[in-house]
Amino acid sequence: MAKPMLEVKDLKAHFFIEAGSVKAVDGISFTLERGETMGLAGESGCGKSTTAYAILQLMPYPGKVVEGEVILDGIDLVQRSPEEMRKIRWKEISICFQGAMNALNPVLRIGDQIMEAILLHEDISQDDARRKMEDMLETVGVDPTRADNYPHEFSGGMKQRAMIAMALVTEPKVIIADEPTTALDVTVEAQVLKLIQSLQKKYNLSVIMITHDLATIAEACDRVAIMYAGKIIEYADVVTIFKERLHPYTEGLIRSVPSLLGSDHLVSVPGSPPGLVFPPEGCRFHPRCPIASEVCLQKEPVFREIRKKHFIACHHAEQMWGKDVWK
Ligand SMILES: Nc1ncnc2c1ncn2[C@@H]1O[C@H](COP(=O)(O)OP(=O)(O)OP(=O)(O)O)[C@@H](O)[C@H]1O
Ligand SMILES: [Mg+2]
Repeated sequence: MAKPMLEVKDLKAHFFIEAGSVKAVDGISFTLERGETMGLAGESGCGKSTTAYAILQLMPYPGKVVEGEVILDGIDLVQRSPEEMRKIRWKEISICFQGAMNALNPVLRIGDQIMEAILLHEDISQDDARRKMEDMLETVGVDPTRADNYPHEFSGGMKQRAMIAMALVTEPKVIIADEPTTALDVTVEAQVLKLIQSLQKKYNLSVIMITHDLATIAEACDRVAIMYAGKIIEYADVVTIFKERLHPYTEGLIRSVPSLLGSDHLVSVPGSPPGLVFPPEGCRFHPRCPIASEVCLQKEPVFREIRKKHFIACHHAEQMWGKDVWK
């Protein structure tokens, strides 16, 4: 079998604050194949954006990648120098930041910002870069004659498209889209999503789509990782996640959304996510889990492959078969 495009192994990224270390990403592992879209979902604060920053070696202060490997096409990004990373970032792997509205520089013209990304990575003339920028704008559905506009002259949807253009213009192999549609209204959201899907097919991109919108995941992703308190607790293909999930948290999360499959009986997971400086011992989900037992309080569940390509971290996953634990 071909090597995966991206392999994340036991990655840990913490923020070091006065109260201690915030274990925002605390030992996650997954693989992403070529041309595949992976959804990364979970409640606010569970570590989704931090995962993106840790992969790109862009951890904001006071954060640091403390352990693990991020192997992109055979190269471990954690071991690269900042200088080497500057060459790899955008060219090999790029990101659409959460809140694209603020990620664009307000005092620079949209076209110039995209050209800057091209010129930084490619040895081409100003004219060729301009042509490439205009082509890319066209591809993402922005009229190239608007290239000389400033961000404030663009609508939310157009800014998001410009951000996508910027992330793609350097032709990376992997793109991380952090909540690419959250700030948009429903019709624009659908358009941007379709756009990402079509570009993904066109360029055979591998995509990590971060979102807390499970409907988006159902529509756009091949595989889904569910995160809870700095850990991935379940990872499987999208059909398995929606039809045969085995983690009580995944079950609760999906059944808390009225419009989703299998939500005939609505569930709301009690309580709220734990603090990440002193997360609960054992399984981090145990204080909110309907089937937690003694072992869950004491022992952290191993993230294991319960069936082919279905990974889970739960002591009682087998017990979940055909049972309604949230009754
Ligand atoms: N700069 C920082 N300093 C300290 N703690 C941080 C910092 N940035 C994030 N955190 C903490 O790390 C944890 C994970 O945050 P992160 O932004 O990755 O969550 P998220 O899943 O992306 O949430 P959202 O859905 O709201 O975007 C949170 O507990 C957050 O408070
Ligand atoms: Mg986030």
